[in-house]
Amino acid sequence: MLPVSNSEIHEHTYEADLRLLQIELVKLQRHIIQKGKRLLVILEGRDAAGKDGSIKSITEHLSPRDSRIVALNKPSPHEEGEWYFQRYVAQLPTAGEFVLFNRSWYNRAGVEKVMGFCTDDQYKQFMNTVNDFESLLVGSDIQIIKYYLDISKEEQAARLKDRAKDPLKQWKISPIDQKAQKMWSAYSEARDNMLKKTSSSDAPWTVVSANDKRLAHLNLIANLLSRVDYPDKDKKILKIDPKIVLTWPADSK
Ligand code: ADP
Ligand code: AMP
Ligand code: MLT
Repeated sequence: MLPVSNSEIHEHTYEADLRLLQIELVKLQRHIIQKGKRLLVILEGRDAAGKDGSIKSITEHLSPRDSRIVALNKPSPHEEGEWYFQRYVAQLPTAGEFVLFNRSWYNRAGVEKVMGFCTDDQYKQFMNTVNDFESLLVGSDIQIIKYYLDISKEEQAARLKDRAKDPLKQWKISPIDQKAQKMWSAYSEARDNMLKKTSSSDAPWTVVSANDKRLAHLNLIANLLSRVDYPDKDKKILKIDPKIVLTWPADSK
């Protein structure tokens, strides 16, 4: 399950803590359905940061009809001709839905910028408009919660190496991965710019230290639950370690 780094937390403790948090997620989902709320959680991070695993830990016990994972492929020629946000807009949650984006429009601030998949003008246009775009969504009652999973260069190297030989991870291998280590500092610069410019009061970034997958999952879910309203919240189990969850100042844009 967690082949690369050893966790500070034992598997039994992890499973027990996760179960309690997943019960809270089910309460949250019931509330979203009953009240017709729209919830969007965005997961960003470098290759192998653990976006898939984090999303799985959230959705494991949720209703498949009322939750949805969106992981769009690279844009088709038709999509490239569209307004940049268009294909993502089509995936936004409807009333009663909890949607998780594994990568998002922030591709333009990260992989597209670093790998040269967009022009400088497209990048600038994105950086200048994304906050207004998100404010529009929040104003239309879509709650947006954005996480950036942060891993170290050594951890990424170890995970990519592990992925290459793990028969269950073959689908994750991509040509983009080959460049992840080589382009490490360009990705770091793009990340810092993104966090600085696109953390707004309507949709702030939360950075999760993700070298330890178990601690990352537990802290991310506890943080998520602390930020949404639902009845019968068991606040005492929402333990958040400030060394793992770092909220980027919302007024730093
Ligand atoms: P992931 O890490 O999400 O499994 P990859 O590492 O293959 O997938 O790619 C990272 C992201 O870059 C994906 O969201 C993918 O759609 C995007 N991407 C890949 N090639 C292009 C391209 N030519 N133009 C725009 N986006 C691309
Ligand atoms: P890096 O090796 O660039 O990924 O950075 C290592 C650690 O330092 C990461 O955990 C980052 O979150 C943090 N870090 C690097 N640069 C900055 C910055 N400009 N602002 C805030 N944190 C940073
Ligand atoms: C992740 O671990 O972040 C996801 O598996 C996506 C990836 O790294 O390619």
